[in-house]
Amino acid sequence: MIVAGRLRVPGDKSISHRALMLAALGDGTSRITRILESDDVRSTASVLRRLGADIPALAADMTVTGVGLRGLRAPTESLDCGNSGTTTRLMAGVVAALPVTAQFVGDASLSRRPMRRVAKPLTAMGARVDLPPHGGLPMTIYGGALKDLDWESEVASAQVKSAILLAGVVGGVRVTIDEPAPTRDHTERMLGARGVDVVRRGTRIELAPAHRCIAAADTIVPGDPSSAAFFAALAALADDGEITLEDVCVNETRTGFFDTLRGMGAEVEFRRDRLSGGEWISPIVVKPGALRGIHIGGEIVPSMIDELPLLACVATRAEGDTVITGAAELRVKESDRIAAVVANLRAVGADASELEDGMRIVGSRSPLRGSIQTHGDHRLAMSFGILGALPGNQIHIDDRECVAVSYPSFWSDLAAIAGS
Ligand code: S3P
Repeated sequence: MIVAGRLRVPGDKSISHRALMLAALGDGTSRITRILESDDVRSTASVLRRLGADIPALAADMTVTGVGLRGLRAPTESLDCGNSGTTTRLMAGVVAALPVTAQFVGDASLSRRPMRRVAKPLTAMGARVDLPPHGGLPMTIYGGALKDLDWESEVASAQVKSAILLAGVVGGVRVTIDEPAPTRDHTERMLGARGVDVVRRGTRIELAPAHRCIAAADTIVPGDPSSAAFFAALAALADDGEITLEDVCVNETRTGFFDTLRGMGAEVEFRRDRLSGGEWISPIVVKPGALRGIHIGGEIVPSMIDELPLLACVATRAEGDTVITGAAELRVKESDRIAAVVANLRAVGADASELEDGMRIVGSRSPLRGSIQTHGDHRLAMSFGILGALPGNQIHIDDRECVAVSYPSFWSDLAAIAGS
């Protein structure tokens, strides 16, 4: 198969959520260009509206006039976060710092996901957070005046870090967070660009107190590396060709998958010489190579956490073993991504096994055929979509529509690139 062409993937999901939230909390009008128009980002927009923010329909070029740091109001209905963990956890931080009570709800997958990781630090700051016994949703937050916090996070999670930072900013208090490993730092960068005093020293993030307002600021949302990864994988697995993925966010905290693909033998090129809105952006050019299995674990894991199902799919076509460890967080994503990826790989005839905190895949050349169950998990649908697009493989995906969460045009982009 020859994979050739250029593709601009949709805007980054993490930055899109934050752009909306910070615009709503800002003083004045912020312009957001190329926001990701997907279900998850719509969940953030609708939650902000229920809190009284004036958020127009998502559009490629939109403006938001903020209500100010403390201008959100008590909602009269539950805050429905759909499938979106980022909406839930980041907005939990905002709500905790305001004199309002709000109940967070979501779909079946989100309702199972762990919320104690945000409830604990927000409680330590002085909010009251009620959770059901299983620790998921519905979650009710009784916000109010907060106090300073020094927090040692047990999990490497940008959502937990961001919840604490947003609570600190809205509440006007000082916080420090120690992370077990560096996680995506978009919140810090975007707060910094809006005049907030936040610094990283190694794995410690420090936020200075006493902000009465945050400045409005424009955001040009770069391409999402987690979406670009699918087409980088397709090009790496092709027989020939070259793909250029345009204007992708290549922030160091997000590029682990591309470095890993290069480590497996593909040609992968990008540069960090162009900053746009405080983020490195670059074309990513990928050419195929003879792929070898790889062992990954440790600090690189958070920088490719959402790409690990895709890596597992790529590994089925690499020579030798691929072992992923230190990735227990995969068990609490939109699905248990260790159990689901391994079960699905086996269902199509690949050699894969679960580890407590990861998985092991043995590559082969035999065709992969069968049906997979996504459990409504967008990244599973797209990872197996890439595997199914390779000549000789035939993979039926039970729910193709779930890609709407992060990449609504995925199937048409895949048809355009794989059919070219
Ligand atoms: C995200 C952080 C990560 C990631 C998610 C988006 C964010 O989650 O998996 O898709 O925007 O902060 P965790 O914080 O749970 O690792």
